Amino acid sequence: MSIETKAELQGMEAVGRAVAMTLKSMQEYARPGMSTLELDQYGATILATFGARSAPKKDYNFPGVTCISVNHEICHGIPRATTILREGDLVNIDVSASLNGYYGDNGCSFVLGEDKQHLQPLVDASRSILKLAISEIKSNVRISAIGGLIEREARKRGFRVIKNLCGHGIGRRLHEAPREIPNFKDHFNRGRLRKNMVIALETFISTRGQIAYEQADGWTMQTKDRSFVAQHEHTLVVTDGAPIILTAGNGV
Ligand code: CO
Ligand code: CO
Repeated sequence: MSIETKAELQGMEAVGRAVAMTLKSMQEYARPGMSTLELDQYGATILATFGARSAPKKDYNFPGVTCISVNHEICHGIPRATTILREGDLVNIDVSASLNGYYGDNGCSFVLGEDKQHLQPLVDASRSILKLAISEIKSNVRISAIGGLIEREARKRGFRVIKNLCGHGIGRRLHEAPREIPNFKDHFNRGRLRKNMVIALETFISTRGQIAYEQADGWTMQTKDRSFVAQHEHTLVVTDGAPIILTAGNGV
């Protein structure tokens, strides 16, 4: 959406706070031995305190409140009683919700406890690349330039990007125009960022594979070579200067 009124900005700020606080609380709550379903149910109680509703459930009938993806799962992981978190797991929590008709979206990958799989460099790369990309966001910038920067920075650090998972416009729905904000320089994407536009910018930094495939459960995305992928995501408003980060404070 494009924010035109003070009320719209306040609505987006409120849902941004709700998803950011939920993500941060869930990350702090996660422990080895806990199931991803238990973690999801905890997240549901936090979202409820804000009066916010799970966006993937509402808009896509996702079988969970939040998406929790572990190790080789990239995103859209289904919270399950049988998925038990272990020390050293690469965990991604993605929280998106609606509140009073406005949507917010944020996500964060982290290593649970001791870094037994040596994945902290991947996580650090994803987080710092998101920060770099955000610092380039302003009105009239080409969407393909942002993607180009993300891919270049990933390669500099010895990583690659997933090409078929993207950031997106957001506001009145979870996914709206611009439909695709890719993590590479897409020459076919002629779009530009505009002042007041609200976008969810999300990295997908990979150890090797570049294409994500839907798994048999109809939701979870994974590469064929079981690469590890880290994602960090903020919802933000484009301005003529530095963007307004609506999900600040989520620990990303
Ligand atoms: Co998300
Ligand atoms: Co998103």
